[in-house]
Amino acid sequence: DWNMPDYIAEAVESIRKQVGTDEVILGLSGGVDSSVAAALIHRAIGDQLTCVFVDHGLLRLDEGKMVMEMFGKNLGVKVIHVDATDQFMGHLAGVTDPEAKRKIIGREFVEVFQAESGKLKSAKWLAQGTIYPDVIESAGKGKKTAHTIKSHHNVGGLPETLNLKLLEPLRELFKDEVRELGVALGLPPEMVYRHPFPGPGLGVRILGEVKKEYADLLRRADAIFIEELRNTKEADGQSWYEKTSQAFAVFLPVKSVGVMGDGRTYEYVVALRAVQTQDFMTAHWAHLPHELLGRVSNRIINEVRGLNRVVYDISGKPPATIEWE
Ligand code: XMP
Repeated sequence: DWNMPDYIAEAVESIRKQVGTDEVILGLSGGVDSSVAAALIHRAIGDQLTCVFVDHGLLRLDEGKMVMEMFGKNLGVKVIHVDATDQFMGHLAGVTDPEAKRKIIGREFVEVFQAESGKLKSAKWLAQGTIYPDVIESAGKGKKTAHTIKSHHNVGGLPETLNLKLLEPLRELFKDEVRELGVALGLPPEMVYRHPFPGPGLGVRILGEVKKEYADLLRRADAIFIEELRNTKEADGQSWYEKTSQAFAVFLPVKSVGVMGDGRTYEYVVALRAVQTQDFMTAHWAHLPHELLGRVSNRIINEVRGLNRVVYDISGKPPATIEWE
């Protein structure tokens, strides 16, 4: 068992010793690891840290606003917000293959991040939210596990091209320790205990070609689903958001017929996915209450013009993966 205040004091001391008066840059993704790393490093060296937040246009509803508010406003961290939506959408136009999409998103991400950090000429360090399981995973790289079959896009590969020294203050921590640390550093628990979100974001939750129009529809459907999951309270005191490991909506570029008032509609479909798992290598679909699913479906269809049908994914992993791409 560890003592959090002591741990923070030690970590802060060690970061200060390591970087001295140098400047540090960090790619903030909105995810738990990079957020906790940012909060910790900021605690240690304040304005010597500059974060670069690349918005690829494939984030969840209001995510960019939330990141800027939490880090910029609440914590007083220097954050450069880069809205690269058009650049990403441009490169993704016409591309339907899931791995090709991942590669493009990963490549553009590096490109945008590099261009931004190139402007910060005085930076000597690149900080990353690498955690202990990432260290182990990359040590066993040659092994092709279910986890590495998809090219997982994280900010790896940046240091070589940027000529920066690496600062990885979370390298020895497990995920639950990172979360505890985040809360102790003042990050909101809702943020720190959020479900994982893939690096390529909605890019792999929009099947086939990615379009901004699809991303906008999906963001709204997904937000409704998550809000309804959070708004439940089961007998054990937990919400369905807490009872599931990952839950999200998937955009299907398929149109089907519906009725709305006196009229006929011909609109897109979203699938809801909610799973329970320990390690994400295998997973069960969550047996969400039918009333909850009904509420989500009604709200999505009533509130999101452009969607007229909602389906629920009842596939386990294996054989299905958690994401649809
Ligand atoms: P699958 O779909 O392979 O997902 O069952 C297992 C876990 O990995 C996440 N995932 C990704 N994370 N980049 C990421 O950062 C990716 O390309 C990627 N693909 C899948 C997925 O969200 C789930 O938590």
